[in-house]
Amino acid sequence: MMAEICAHIMDIVANSITAEAKKVDIFIAQDKKRALFTIKVVDDGKGMTEEMSKKVQDPFFSTKTGRKVGLGIPLFKGTAEHCGGDFYLKSKIGEGTEIFASFALNNPDLPPLGNLKDTILVMIVSNPEVNFSFSYTINGKEFTLDTKEIKAQLGSVPINHPEVISFLGKYLDENL
Ligand SMILES: Nc1ncnc2c1ncn2[C@@H]1O[C@H](COP(=O)(O)OP(=O)(O)O)[C@@H](O)[C@H]1O
Ligand SMILES: [Mg+2]
Repeated sequence: MMAEICAHIMDIVANSITAEAKKVDIFIAQDKKRALFTIKVVDDGKGMTEEMSKKVQDPFFSTKTGRKVGLGIPLFKGTAEHCGGDFYLKSKIGEGTEIFASFALNNPDLPPLGNLKDTILVMIVSNPEVNFSFSYTINGKEFTLDTKEIKAQLGSVPINHPEVISFLGKYLDENL
């Protein structure tokens, strides 16, 4: 199991980038009433066939075929299922991929969230051409950040300009 939930989010988003996604939507929600923590990542990357979608969820697939790949998806799925949650992966060639994982908030093995602010900032800085939208909902209250909207306001100033990043960092600190 990975030490932090944010490491899983990073890994899943890295897959979207590798799949040439131009848009990545990340939904994170914490619901005390239902005692659930949920994460959904939706991308418009190249997608996978049904067969591939099944195989990438299998931790033994990678070793059997000897391919040099990580275990990002099986690990994420494993953590969710181990922590009393659910997991699904939906994908379509040429359309994109959607990955969902939930975790029981009261599960003693639930890894800590980690630094969500830095996770989001690193994604934005390292992939300025990708449009990210973040939705963070805690007990019904939603915070959103959409880099496409921010880019429109910035005009010719790049989104990974140091001053923009510092501003985004403060904005995230105030809202997360
Ligand atoms: N969002 C995605 N879009 C298209 N293909 C994906 C996506 N996520 C994962 N894949 C495919 O599943 C494989 C396994 O992903 P993962 O378990 O994270 O290991 P790794 O990224 O190290 O290969 C990837 O190599 C890729 O072929
Ligand atoms: Mg991966």
